[in-house]
Amino acid sequence: MTKASVSTFKAPRGTYDLIPPVSAVYLAVREAISAPLRRAGYGYVETPGFEQVDLFSRGVGESTDIVTKEMYTLTQRSEGSERLALRPEGTASVLRAALEANLHKAGNLPVKLWYSGSYYRYERPQKGRYRHFSQVGAEAIGAEDPALDAELIILAVDAYKSLGLKNFRLLLNSLGDKECRPAYRAALQDFLRDLDLDDDTRRRVEINPLRVLDDKREAVQKQLTGAPMLRDHLCEACKEYHEQVRELLTAAGVAFEDDEKLVRGLDYYTRTTFEFVHGGLGSQSAVGGGGRYDGLSEMIGGPALPSVGWALGVDRTVLALEAEGVELELPAATEVFAVPLGDEARRVLFGLVTELRRAGVATDFAFGGKGLKNAMKSANRSGARFALVAGERDLAEGVVQLKDLESGEQKAVPFDTVVSEVRSAQG
Ligand code: HAM
Repeated sequence: MTKASVSTFKAPRGTYDLIPPVSAVYLAVREAISAPLRRAGYGYVETPGFEQVDLFSRGVGESTDIVTKEMYTLTQRSEGSERLALRPEGTASVLRAALEANLHKAGNLPVKLWYSGSYYRYERPQKGRYRHFSQVGAEAIGAEDPALDAELIILAVDAYKSLGLKNFRLLLNSLGDKECRPAYRAALQDFLRDLDLDDDTRRRVEINPLRVLDDKREAVQKQLTGAPMLRDHLCEACKEYHEQVRELLTAAGVAFEDDEKLVRGLDYYTRTTFEFVHGGLGSQSAVGGGGRYDGLSEMIGGPALPSVGWALGVDRTVLALEAEGVELELPAATEVFAVPLGDEARRVLFGLVTELRRAGVATDFAFGGKGLKNAMKSANRSGARFALVAGERDLAEGVVQLKDLESGEQKAVPFDTVVSEVRSAQG
């Protein structure tokens, strides 16, 4: 292609297109992450790509980077003051949708939902960090039960394993609840106020001191030795809850690492929080994360509904597969490629193509009236195992040639047995 024929438009900064054949890997990853959820009673939910800004500022938190720096807000023509934002995450939306549909009133708690979609954050783009990215997530709404936290974590581990990933770790923490966190927060603030910190970080100390523990900068980290840790301030109920989650994970053979500094970037978390990190991804190592959010429903105007969930990043999971050199076994995009020689053969083969497709065989056709040589090139490029070739002489005999593109072997097959011949040739 010459330069002049390339479109002047490009995918916006921090975004990229999913294009065949790689796009098939993304579909397979979404399928692999959602399969364990579907087997565990999670129903599919889909919410709009945008919501009221306040849903996120109240839900995700006024002090988070996501809300203060990363939200794409939209202007609307003529609908008064309603401010909208592209969704930066899924939890607040899914809970909003469940409340709006009164799912929590159907008398069957927890409400278990899974979702898959695009999310938007105005971040500094780099490998593994995009402004448009894709997550598959799950939320279990309306039950406080350590087994539910364990269930979700196990389902995520099973999803990664089913993809063949090995080099990932599970980090686990408890962030306490409304009983024990306030006292800890005050103790931590007392400690942090004495440190040598820049103005932004000082502000953070006042709004969300726990997040300071998560500051990656060396100058901050080295001052944090001796900081009070939440682990030592958890109330009995939180300790007991966390211990049960740990025991259930251990019983299920799921390895985890206690990470008392794991805070996560969203404010709604209580008690169980976790993150999956992958060793092959450099600085953007979190392939997924989640936790319990017992207060979120009330924060967005609903009743008390203790809940837990996670979201796994599809883009980073694909990068993790690449880093580990895992090649997924994908179904062939095209199994049979039909190559007609002449008009009558086009008509007959086109009919057979439809028949094969209806019988479940992935079949494609040499469109555009190509000559034999080019059509066979297309057949080879399609990755098909078989070509179905027919010319006038074949038609006169009521057959088409079924050619194995791997071995080169060719066999004349009567029209009405093409489907069964292809099936038996596929083995
Ligand atoms: P999160 O940790 O913000 O959690 O995002 C989950 C995953 O999405 C991350 O671990 C990462 O793999 C992926 N991700 C996030 N931002 C980007 C980005 N800019 N580019 C590429 N991938 C990204 C949540 O979103 C919570 N809603 C999870 C949750 C569900 N908690 C409870 N329920």
